[in-house]
Amino acid sequence: MERVRVMWPRLPEADAVAGYLRRMDAARTYSNFGPLVTELEARYAERFNVSASRVVTCSSATLGLQGALEMLPAGTTVHCPSWTFPATPIAIASAGHRIAFHDVSDVDWQIDVDNEPSQRDAIVPVLPFGAQFELARWSQWKYVVLDAAASGGATDLDLSGLPATWAVVVSLHATKVLGAGEGGVVILGTDAAAERFRSFTNLGFVVTRSSDVPGTNAKLSEPGAAYGLAALDQWEQEEREWRAARELVQAAEARLGLGSPCSSYPGVNPYWILRFPTPEIRHAVEVALAAQSIESRRWWEKRCDQMSAFDTADVVSPTGGFPVSDAVVSTVLGLPFHRDLTLAEVDRVVSVIESVQGAVA
Ligand SMILES: Cc1ncc(COP(=O)(O)O)c(C=O)c1O
Repeated sequence: MERVRVMWPRLPEADAVAGYLRRMDAARTYSNFGPLVTELEARYAERFNVSASRVVTCSSATLGLQGALEMLPAGTTVHCPSWTFPATPIAIASAGHRIAFHDVSDVDWQIDVDNEPSQRDAIVPVLPFGAQFELARWSQWKYVVLDAAASGGATDLDLSGLPATWAVVVSLHATKVLGAGEGGVVILGTDAAAERFRSFTNLGFVVTRSSDVPGTNAKLSEPGAAYGLAALDQWEQEEREWRAARELVQAAEARLGLGSPCSSYPGVNPYWILRFPTPEIRHAVEVALAAQSIESRRWWEKRCDQMSAFDTADVVSPTGGFPVSDAVVSTVLGLPFHRDLTLAEVDRVVSVIESVQGAVA
């Protein structure tokens, strides 16, 4: 039985990258803000409708989030959802801040903050699995670092109105849209913030090679930028392929009578996430899929406040607990989704789920 992969990344092939790599050979510049990184930042500035002086690449979205948060005073309380990829709270803790975990909304799985927006605290809203940007939603907050790791294929990418004290972070990981292998793109609210963030990625160097602000080595390499540029060159085709795969799974969702908040995103993203009626049905589906060599993944499998890495972090949790996150964690499942997905593969997934649905009916 042929295995059906839950993800199957496909970066631009060697021929599409070769021209950029030859330019790199000629320039003999392989890192430290070389010409390809500069070009990639300019291309992303166009994509997000902001000036190139406000776009800085980095080696991962995790470090992008950390660097954006490093600009706040150490010990700032940073609010984030508990149900997210652990990169979000890892970045907050690494920047030396207090993590205030929150539950998520049942409607769209985004952070549910019931306290008054604070002018001193910061918030890291997570756009789960490629959600749209909706900047106005956080307009009451002064300090916002938007974890838009998987939203590079959203349809509302105009960030020209990004407030001065905000930042947006997008991942270029191989599993994301427009993947470059590893990498991140950060859009800052001012040129000064962008320069400061660039210093963070370059060991805290501001003017001289003295570490004058908090920093690490988080630079994107020229080979990484070559992949990022080649991916942008092929964006129209990539987007068409994601949309074609989405049509297949949308038809499957209609047949199964299942879905999730992610089902109706207008943009493209690399996930097929379904919510099942009960944890037992989710488990039965997982087991039945595995028996048919069909991979699935619990996205995201655990609340971050329950992960032991955060035992020693400075953490606060809401008194009401995390009822929505708990319900979601136990009932969602990531199903096979990639640009080479076929109708036959989707049909295999559907018949397994239908057989489980038949058994519990
Ligand atoms: C919500 C979220 N934040 C951050 C990240 C981290 O991105 P990167 O792998 O580029 O560090 C991811 C990666 O999957 C993510 O899903």
